This record gives sequence, C-alpha cells and structure tokens, in this order.
Amino acid sequence: MYIASTTAPVNIATLKYWGKRDKTLNLPTNSSISVTLSQEDLRTLTSAATSETFSEDQLWLNGKLESLASERTQMCLADLRQLRAELESQDDSLPKFSQWKLHIVSENNFPTAAGLASSAAGFSALVVAIAKLYKLPQSMSEISKIARKGSGSACRSLFGGYVAWEMGVEEDGSDSKAVEVAPLEHWDNMKAVILVVSADKKDTPSTSGMQTTVHTSDLFQWRIKEVVPTRFEEMKKSIVEKNFPVFADLTMKDSNSFHATCLDSFPPIFYLNDTSKKIIKLVHAINEFYKETIAAYTFDAGPNAVIYYESQNESKLFAFLYKLFGKVSGWESKYTTESLTAFT
Ligand code: DP6
Repeated sequence: MYIASTTAPVNIATLKYWGKRDKTLNLPTNSSISVTLSQEDLRTLTSAATSETFSEDQLWLNGKLESLASERTQMCLADLRQLRAELESQDDSLPKFSQWKLHIVSENNFPTAAGLASSAAGFSALVVAIAKLYKLPQSMSEISKIARKGSGSACRSLFGGYVAWEMGVEEDGSDSKAVEVAPLEHWDNMKAVILVVSADKKDTPSTSGMQTTVHTSDLFQWRIKEVVPTRFEEMKKSIVEKNFPVFADLTMKDSNSFHATCLDSFPPIFYLNDTSKKIIKLVHAINEFYKETIAAYTFDAGPNAVIYYESQNESKLFAFLYKLFGKVSGWESKYTTESLTAFT
C-alpha cells in the first residue's frame, strides 16, 4: 500500500466569489481574493492510500464512511488519474496507481456543520493528498484548477497567506486558477477572529444561491463588471503595501456588496441575521471610537462573522468584544447567540 497525507487550511474571502459562468467546471464570473488561515487553526487533514488490492474508492470523513459519488468529486479523481496515467506512460517502472482504487481518510479539526468554509479545505486537502501520492510534477496553480472543480473556493486553499483566484477567460477553464499574492510571512501580524453566530446549516447552499443571483439580480451585473475588477487590483495593492485601512475598507465594502446582490436576487437570499448586523455596527463603532480603522468584518454564505485585525490592535478590539460578549480564547470561544444577542 502507498500513502500520502496533507493538511489544507480554511480560506476566508475578502473579495468574494459569487457567480459562475460555467456551473460544471466552477468557472467564476469574477476574480476573488482570500486570506488562508494558519494550519493550527481551522484545517482538514487528509490521507490518501492506494493499493492493487482495494476493490473500490472509499472515503471516511470524520470517521464516517461517505459517498464519493458526487459529480464534483468524480471529476477531481478523473483529472488526477489522468495526470498520473500520463506519468506512467512515460515511465514503465512506475506502479499503475492510475488504475488502482483509492482509500481516503479526512478529518476536520473544527465542527463541519459550523458553516466555516469546510468544503474549501476539504476539496483542497483531497486533491493535494492524491497529487502527492501520485507524485505529480504540476505546480500548485495547476493543481488548483482540479480543486476548483470540486468547490470553487477550494482552489484558494492550496496556498497559504494571501491568495488570488484569477477568473480566466477560457471556456475550458485552463486559465482559471489560484495564484499567491503574498506569503503569510509578508503580513504576519494579520489575525482573524471568528464570531460563531450560528452553527446551523446554510439556509441556501452557495451553489444554488449563486445561480439565483446570476439569473435574477441586476445589481450583480454592476458588481461583476464595474465593482470587482477595480477592487481586485486595489486589494492586491493594499496587501503588497500592507495598508490595513485600505484593505479593511475594501473587505467590508465587498462583503456588503455581496450580501446586497443576495438581497437583490429574486427570490431574495438572506445570509445575515440580526446578530450579524449588530456585529457590523459594532465594528464601525469601534473604528470610529479609535479614529482609525483597526478591524474589518466579512461574512460568507451564513451569519458568522470573521473579523480581520492586526495583532498590535488585539487588546483594543478585544476590549470591546470582552465587554460585550465575555471572554475570548481563540476561535473556539464561541460567542454564543445568547451572548451576542445581549448586545443591542
Ligand atoms: C460566499 O466555493 O462554496 O464563500 O463553487 O459552488 O462549491 P461552489 O461554491 P463555494 O462558494 C463560496 C462562496 C463564498 C465566497 C468565497 O469564498 O469567495
């Protein structure tokens, strides 16, 4: 039996991917940017094994046997096997992994149900573990195109630090890939705290939500044509220059723009709840109080907040959070709905 393991962290978009120009290949209607959390925080650990004796492909997710039948997973496996087959055709001495079945074991170190971008880390780890097992020579950007087919945002988790997913223009998706904007060390005092407002399952899954937006929202056309292309360049620049106030404003504005297009969809899609809105107000109030931008919120397809800040401002930010929500001890300190709703 041959085996390889890897970990992939969760990434949180600061410029959101929302909308597909090709649903099967997960080709987006706009480029996006994210920050990958560190390996110690939220991550998926995946091991992939192959052996001539395995009779079927199998996946254990958090200790439970799960189906590998989804079209997205099958596409990833087929692409990886094809790349391996190309290697085997060049070198006869290589074992024929491309024809053998796989056993995959995957574990999250955070609650899968908490709506914390688990599919991004999951598909990224799955694809990278198999690419390692197959000893594929392709670059991470090339491999990111395979992870993208599993879940769009997964392509960004192949890199640490600050990552851009370039939307590309080709119909076959050959130029729709993730690239590094800057490594984690470049801006290593950037931190994130996650306020878990609700661990419930998403109201509207991202995939179907995006389709509704693409087909019904007028605001969406403005977002993808006018708003995001400029913001994409500005945000990359703010990262390169480590300009937190600019980065923070763009992050908050883009979260708001994404949720506005959700609301402009028909029927409308609601991801933020009253607690989320209170967090938005709180962050603006904190920035006004200190007369400088020290914190930025962003919300994905759910009510949970991610707040970015620089480590030197932690006590300034947490002074408010402690007072309002109780003690903070790493991301797990779930600010419960009760304590959050206590803030009015
Ligand atoms: C709001 O990557 O989960 O988190 O490609 O259909 O799997 P699929 O969607 P997914 O969508 C993520 C949407 C988002 C924004 C983002 O991460 O950029």
